[in-house]
Amino acid sequence: MPETRNWRFSLDFEGIGWLTIDTPEAPVNTLSRQAIVELETLVMRFEDLIATGELLGVVLLSGKESGFIAGADITEFDNMTDHATLTAALARAHSLFDRIENLKVPFVCGIHGFCLGGGLELALASHYRVAVNDDKTRLGFPEVNLGLFPGFGGTGRSIRQAGPVDAMQLMLTGRMIRAGQARGMGLVDKLVRHRDQLRWEGRKAVLTGKRSSPAPWAKRMMGNRFVRPQLATRMRAEVRKKARPEHYPAPYALIELFEKHGGNWRDMIKGEAERFVPLMATDTAKNLRRVFFLSEGLKKQGLRGADKPMFRRVHVIGAGIMGGDIAAWCALRGLGVTLQDLDMERIKPALDRAKELFKKRLRKPVEVQNAIARLEADVTGKGIARADVIIEAVVEKLDIKRQVFAEVEARARPDAMLATNTSSIELERIAEGMQTPSRLIGLHFFNPVAQLPLVEVIRSSFNTDRDIAMGASFALAIGKSPVVVKSAPGFLVNRVLMPYMLGAVERVEKGESKELIDAAAVAFGMPMGPIELMDTVGLDVGASVAHELGHEVPEDSRFATLVSNKNLGRKAGQGFYKWEKGKAVKAETPAHADLAGLGRELVKPLVDTTVKVVDEGIVASRELADIGVILGTGFAPFLGGPMRARLDGKA
Ligand code: COA
Repeated sequence: MPETRNWRFSLDFEGIGWLTIDTPEAPVNTLSRQAIVELETLVMRFEDLIATGELLGVVLLSGKESGFIAGADITEFDNMTDHATLTAALARAHSLFDRIENLKVPFVCGIHGFCLGGGLELALASHYRVAVNDDKTRLGFPEVNLGLFPGFGGTGRSIRQAGPVDAMQLMLTGRMIRAGQARGMGLVDKLVRHRDQLRWEGRKAVLTGKRSSPAPWAKRMMGNRFVRPQLATRMRAEVRKKARPEHYPAPYALIELFEKHGGNWRDMIKGEAERFVPLMATDTAKNLRRVFFLSEGLKKQGLRGADKPMFRRVHVIGAGIMGGDIAAWCALRGLGVTLQDLDMERIKPALDRAKELFKKRLRKPVEVQNAIARLEADVTGKGIARADVIIEAVVEKLDIKRQVFAEVEARARPDAMLATNTSSIELERIAEGMQTPSRLIGLHFFNPVAQLPLVEVIRSSFNTDRDIAMGASFALAIGKSPVVVKSAPGFLVNRVLMPYMLGAVERVEKGESKELIDAAAVAFGMPMGPIELMDTVGLDVGASVAHELGHEVPEDSRFATLVSNKNLGRKAGQGFYKWEKGKAVKAETPAHADLAGLGRELVKPLVDTTVKVVDEGIVASRELADIGVILGTGFAPFLGGPMRARLDGKA
C-alpha cells in the first residue's frame, strides 16, 4: 500500500478493506489537497485489488473523536483563487469521486460527528452510508457561509439522493441536520446507535453488496424542466429575503445552475465548476473566510486542555428580561440554574418564557421536562453558596449592585466566578466595595439572549488574564462567542451602535424618510435599518444608553416626544413606525439614485467609532473589533467587519 499521512488502510481476512481518515496534527479531518492526492493513489490500488478479487469492498471510517470529515481544508482556499489552479483541483477531485463511485465493489462510509461540505460529498459518492443517530452527528453543506456552494460533485449527488427540494434547501441555507433527518431525506441509508456499531454495519453492507437507491420518482420529478423554473423563482425569492445577490452571489449562482441543469444530476455536476470557480476569488468569499477564522479564534480565549473549567451550576440574580433569559439559556444548555428575585411573582414570567424557549429548541418532551427541572426559582438565594458562576442582572443602579455583591461575596464559594451583566456602569465602581475586587468580571449578554451569539466579557483594571479567560470559558461553555472588552462606557457594541442609530434618528428629525434610511442601510449590508433597530431595541432603552454615552436627546425632538408618550417602539406597537403583528408598517421607499452610497454614509459613524475603540485599546485588535461588531450588530459579514471594510474602501 502507498505511504499516506491522512489515511490508514488494512485488508482483513474476509477481503474487506478498512480505510481510516485521520488528518495529522488536526482536531478535525479535512480533505486537503494532500489528502485528495493520497486518496487517489489508494483508489488506484483498490482498483488493482478488485481486479484480482482480493478486495470485496471498502469501509471508510474516521479515526477522530470529533467526527467524520469537516469538509475541504479552508486554510488552503486563499491559495486557490487562481482560475487555472482551482479548475484543475476541482477536476481532480471530481474524477477521484467518480472513480470511487465506479468501483465494482461497495464503498461504504461510516459517519459519526461532523460530516460537512466535501466530507458529505465524498460520502455521497460512496455506495452506502451508515450514520450514528446521536446528538453529535451533523450533516450539511456549510459552503454558502463561506461564499461558495458544494464543488466536489455534491450539488448533483445530493439532488440525486434527496431530490431537488430538500437538497437545494440544504445547500442554500448551510443548515446542519441530524442523522435521523438525513436518513429521512435519503442522504443516509442506515442508522446505528453507537459509533462502535459502524464497523459491524459497514462489514455487513460490504458482504451483502448494499447499494443506496436514488430519491423516489415523486421527489425527482420536482427537477423536471416544467417545474424547475417555478421552483427556481421561489428559491430566489426565499434567498432574497436574507441575502442580496450583489452581497452574496453564491446562492444565486447555485440556483442558476439548478435551473439550467437540475433535471439531470450528472449535468449538474458538469456545470458545477464553471460557476464555482469565480466565486472563490470574490471579496465576499475572502471576507467570509476571514469571519470564519475570526470566530474560530474566539474559542482560543477560553482555557483549554487540563485547565478547562467545568461549569455545572449557575445562579442568576434578577429575573427581569435579561436575567430571566440568561437563566433560561444556561438551563437550555444543560446547566443547573437558580434564578433569584424578591418574590415568586417576579420570577414566574421568566419561568414561563423559559418554558416557551425549551419547547421551541428541544425536540423531545422529556428534554423539555429536564430543562424545566434544571431551572429553579430561588427567592432566598440559597443557590449562591452552591454555584460555580453567579451572574447579577438587577437594575442599573450602582448602590443596589454593590449591595448585591456584598451579600454574594459573603455567601459564595471562594472559587465561584462573580459576574455582572451591567451595560453601563464601570466595573471598577461596582467592584470597589468588594473584599476581592478582582473576582468581579462583566458578562454582557444581548437581547434577545437566545438569538444573539455575542457575550462581551468585560475586563476591569482589577482582573487578571485568568479571571477573563474563565469568563470566556463560561461563555463558550454555554455556546456563546466571547469578545473581551475593557470596562469603558458602552463597551464595544453599544458604543459603536449609538452614534450610528442617533445619526439616523437626527436625519429623520430633519425630515428625511425613515423608510429610505432603513432601506439604504440594508442596501449597504446591515440586517436591519437603524430606525427599525431603534424601534426594536425600544426607544426608552435607546434613550438611556444614549444618555450613558453622553449623547443627549433634545427635549423638543420627535424622539423625546415618542419616549414621553410611551410610544417606545415595537413592544408598544408604536415608535418611529407603527408595529403590527411584530412587523413595522412601512410606507413606500422614495426613489434614490445611490441607495448603497447613502447606506455607507449612514454607517460611517459606526465605522469611525470602531476605529476609535481599537485606538483606545478597548478591544485588543482590529480583528476582535471586526468579529465583535459583526456578531453584536450584524454588520455586513460579506465586508469582513467595519475595520476590514474601511481598509478596503468599502465603508
Ligand atoms: N478546514 C480547515 N480547518 C477547519 C475546518 C475546515 N473545513 N473545519 C474546522 N477546522 C479547524 C478550525 O479552524 C479549528 O482550528 P483551530 O483549532 O486551529 O482553531 C479546528 O478545526 C477545530 O474546529 P472547532 O471549530 O474548534 O471545532 P468545533 O467542534 O467547535 O466545530 C466544525 C467543528 C466542523 C462544526 C466547525 O469547525 C466548522 O464549521 N468547520 C467548517 C466546516 C465547513 O465550512 N466546511 C465546508 C468547507 S468548504
